[in-house]
This record gives sequence, structure tokens and C-alpha cells, in this order.
Amino acid sequence: MAIIGLSPMDGVTDAAFRYIVDKYGHPDIMFTEFTSVEGLAHGATALLTPLIHHQSSTPLIAQVFGYTPDDFYKAAFIAAEMGFSGIDINMGCPDRHITTRGGGAGLIRNPTLAKKIIEWTKRGVADWESGRKIEAIDLPESIRQYINSYNANNSAAFRTHLTVSVKTRIGYSHPDTKDWIQNLLETRPDMISLHGRTFKQLYAGQADWDEIALAAELCKSAGVILLGNGDVKSRSEGLEKVNKYGVHGVLIGRASMGNPWVFTGETPSPETKLRVALEQCEAFERLTPGAHFLSLRKHLAWYCNGFRNAAQARVEFLKTSSIHDVRLVAEKYLNSID
Ligand SMILES: Cc1cc2nc3c(=O)[nH]c(=O)nc-3n(C[C@H](O)[C@H](O)[C@H](O)COP(=O)(O)O)c2cc1C
Repeated sequence: MAIIGLSPMDGVTDAAFRYIVDKYGHPDIMFTEFTSVEGLAHGATALLTPLIHHQSSTPLIAQVFGYTPDDFYKAAFIAAEMGFSGIDINMGCPDRHITTRGGGAGLIRNPTLAKKIIEWTKRGVADWESGRKIEAIDLPESIRQYINSYNANNSAAFRTHLTVSVKTRIGYSHPDTKDWIQNLLETRPDMISLHGRTFKQLYAGQADWDEIALAAELCKSAGVILLGNGDVKSRSEGLEKVNKYGVHGVLIGRASMGNPWVFTGETPSPETKLRVALEQCEAFERLTPGAHFLSLRKHLAWYCNGFRNAAQARVEFLKTSSIHDVRLVAEKYLNSID
């Protein structure tokens, strides 16, 4: 069966948004925002916020980035202890802060390191699965304490196996799909998610689905799941791509912003959009109480379309500073919808 999943998006796929997407979109798989393995290994507990999650039976994958194999080994233990279904290695992020250190899309230019990172991540998962305790890992006490208290409050799901996957692009400055994907397949990851653009393209132009189809063929022969990604605007378009390009599934990113229903194909009423926007704010406060409210504003604005005065509602939501403000704006527009 085709997999239609939520793509990882830094600053977007936080705990509250994933809760809402899970509840209203029922995707087959979801990814967290990414977080730095080196930062975690140095004890930065704030970097665990992207990994906070609600309890759900939907497979949830923790995405991490970095360039130090040993720190990926440690991150595998963190993901396992926090109850994730898998750990995904970012090899596609074009942010210069990340690529100049060799992480994200920078790994496309360093296939040897990329393979080593996958191997060490797999080793981390295998060691955890065979009973090695997180206490035996050289991790800062702050991280261990955080995870202990997180698990005390959110009983982590018991898992017997975690997947190790990679999310990447089709090349660095030009498409290099065959060599790059074959290189990754040598380490036998469980899954590869492929955005059909090069690093150099960033988000310009169209995703190249013929390159994704090429990767799908290679992955099929190797028994590895390939999820295609790039410019999918709806569930039906995702299913078409599965048939046309031979991928196991697709990931949807930008089209899910303010639209968890993209995964079901439903068209929500204006009332539903406003109520779900408010519900996302409530989930945000519940799941990530210390997080900054301002990151919610853009989500609120994304929900404002397709109803009378939507543009005005957007302006008012962009000025909110608390859930109380959001309730007032939502009530006002709920009352004005006919
Ligand atoms: C705001 C934003 C943040 C993103 N952050 C991440 C990230 O943390 N990890 C990642 O692998 N990809 C990230 N991406 C890339 C998306 O997951 C996806 O590959 C890309 O947007 C293409 O898919 P789409 O056309 O469905 O949006 C991000 C994209 C956007 C727009």
C-alpha cells in the first residue's frame, strides 16, 4: 500500500502540528523537525524540544543532522529511548551553517562520511536493541536526566525495532542520482526519502520526478523503501506519482501548511479551519509549554484562506501573542461566517 507521509520541516513540523496532522490527516508516517547530533552530544537539552511528541500509533521518525558518526550513534539511543519508530539522517538540508561543516546536503559531496554515518547510526540502533543501556553511552547527564523525566511523564512506546533512514536530494550541483543512491544503498538503510531537486536548486524550479523514478528502481532492486518528495499538492497527486514513478510513497511538505487535510483529500469548512487552528495552539501549550508562542503565528495565518474576511483574519492572527488573543480572534471570525 502506498505511503503518504508528512515531510520534516524545521520550524513547522513541531509537536503540536504533528498532533494536528495525525488527528485530522492520518498520514502513514511523520517526521520531526531536525535536530543536531553534535548539539545533543554536548548536552544542549533545548535541542530535544523538536523530539517531543504525542502518543500515537502512527510511525514517527526523529530526524537528525550532523557530521560526527559517533554522535549519530548516541542520537540513535536518544531516539530509541524516546519511543520513536525510526531515526532519519538529514543529507539534504541546504542551510550554509550546516553544509559548511559537512552536514545536511554537504554529505552528498562526502559519500564516504555519509556511509560511515549510516553505519554508526545502525550500530547504535542494533546495540540498543540488543540491550545496551543509555547509561553505558557517553552522554551528558543533562540529556539523560531530560529523557528520564520525559519518559516518566510520557510512557514511551515499547518498540522492538527502529528503522534507520536517509532524507536527501538528487545531487549537489547537478543530478547525480544513480551514483549517490547506489552509494547510500551499500549501507542498506531501511528507507530513503528523495527530494527531486539538487542542493544548488534549493527550492527553485520543479522537482525532477524522472530522477526520483530512477532512484525508485535502484531501491526496489535493493529491497529498500523509496519515498519521493517535491511539489506534491494533494493526496490524489501523491497516489498518481506512486503509480507513475514506481515509488513506495511520497512525502508532503509545504502543501500541509495550515492544511492537515491534504493527507485525506477533504475540504474543510471555514469553521473547521478556525477551530483546528485554535486546537493547534492548545496542543502547542500542552505539549511544549516552554516554547515560544510566536512560532504559532505563521501556522494561524496559513489556516486563513477560503472564507470571507480571511485576509483580515490573517492580519489579526499575526498580531496575537497568547492563546487568549487567538481565542478572541477565532471567536470573532467564527461568529462572522455565514
Ligand atoms: C520551512 C521548511 C523547513 C524544512 N526543514 C526540513 C528539515 O528540517 N529536514 C528535511 O529533511 N527537510 C526539510 N525541508 C524540506 C522538506 O521536507 C521537503 O523536502 C521540501 O519542502 C520539498 O517538499 P514539498 O514540495 O512537499 O514541500 C524543509 C522545507 C521547508 C519549506
